[in-house]
Amino acid sequence: MTFLELAKNRFSERFFSDKQIEKEKLDKILEAGQIVPTACNYQPQRFYVISSEEGLAKLKTVTPFHYNVPTMILVCYDLDVVWTQPNDRLLSNYNSGDQDASIAATTMMYEAEELGVHTIWIRGFDAKSVQETFQLPDNIIPVMMLGLGYPNEKSKPNPWHFKRNDISEFVKYI
Ligand SMILES: Cc1cc2nc3c(=O)[nH]c(=O)nc-3n(C[C@H](O)[C@H](O)[C@H](O)COP(=O)(O)O)c2cc1C
Repeated sequence: MTFLELAKNRFSERFFSDKQIEKEKLDKILEAGQIVPTACNYQPQRFYVISSEEGLAKLKTVTPFHYNVPTMILVCYDLDVVWTQPNDRLLSNYNSGDQDASIAATTMMYEAEELGVHTIWIRGFDAKSVQETFQLPDNIIPVMMLGLGYPNEKSKPNPWHFKRNDISEFVKYI
């Protein structure tokens, strides 16, 4: 399978079975998030694996979009490590944390897809509530959550999955 075929096969899973993902697969997925490019190679990405009963119960208090997933990776960046561009004239106090965390999350998402593990990208949460609930230090900034698991019998792509705007809306040759 080519990468483009793999990317086209992926869809957001919202119907997870109880089956936990294998530790070997989780380790490969985390490794995929480890080896990504980051600004100045500062590597500020941080992954919190939520799969314990206690962790999953806390998860349900911070987002309605948990979909009873058996494993959620909370992807953050470390504010004390991230590359910054304080004199950016357009974006004040710019740092690359969202980009560094997102490239890690994206790479993990496609590694999961290759391993037959379904995923859901979640940003429907209050970052401060996540920090507080999971007792993260102030310098750890939650960016997104990546749900990982196997589909149940209701699994199917949401209609949104099939709505793709024309490529001419995205691409401009300048
Ligand atoms: C930045 C971002 C935030 C998202 N947040 C949520 C979310 O909080 N809840 C949810 O159900 N889906 C969320 N999604 C999934 C999108 O709704 C989904 O990717 C989009 O509708 C396209 O569908 P597809 O992933 O099946 O192709 C998010 C996706 C991205 C990239």
